[in-house]
Amino acid sequence: MDITSTSLSLNEKTHHDTAPGVVVYVCRSCRSEADPNADPRPGATLAQAAIALGDAEGVNVRSVNCLANCKRGLSAAIRSADGWSYMFGSLSEDDAADLMVGARLLASAPDGLMPWRGRPDSLKRGLVARIPPLNFTEETS
Ligand code: FES
Repeated sequence: MDITSTSLSLNEKTHHDTAPGVVVYVCRSCRSEADPNADPRPGATLAQAAIALGDAEGVNVRSVNCLANCKRGLSAAIRSADGWSYMFGSLSEDDAADLMVGARLLASAPDGLMPWRGRPDSLKRGLVARIPPLNFTEETS
């Protein structure tokens, strides 16, 4: 038996994509309104937490430099390859888990719309906009 290959297979990360077709983008540059000079910036803290959680939970998360939502607190977008995309603001450094929930809700939505039911409060009150998919022609729901 090849011990090296056995060790490698045991250590392989079993990555199960729990939000297929969906990507969470978190702004790493958002500042704290109360303390604009805080370092690290709260946006960076949220982005790091979301990336780590996404790795653990099988959700594709990327950090971005700015989502042009700077006046509305910590910001993130959840995009779907075939469905709608959502822009959120007023997030906190503790909302990484909520973003994972939102990503999975959107990925499993048969109509491509993130359902209101089951959506974390931060993704309800923090909703800024939703954007239709490229192939959108008319409202069907
Ligand atoms: S700095 Fe975060 S949206 Fe612009």
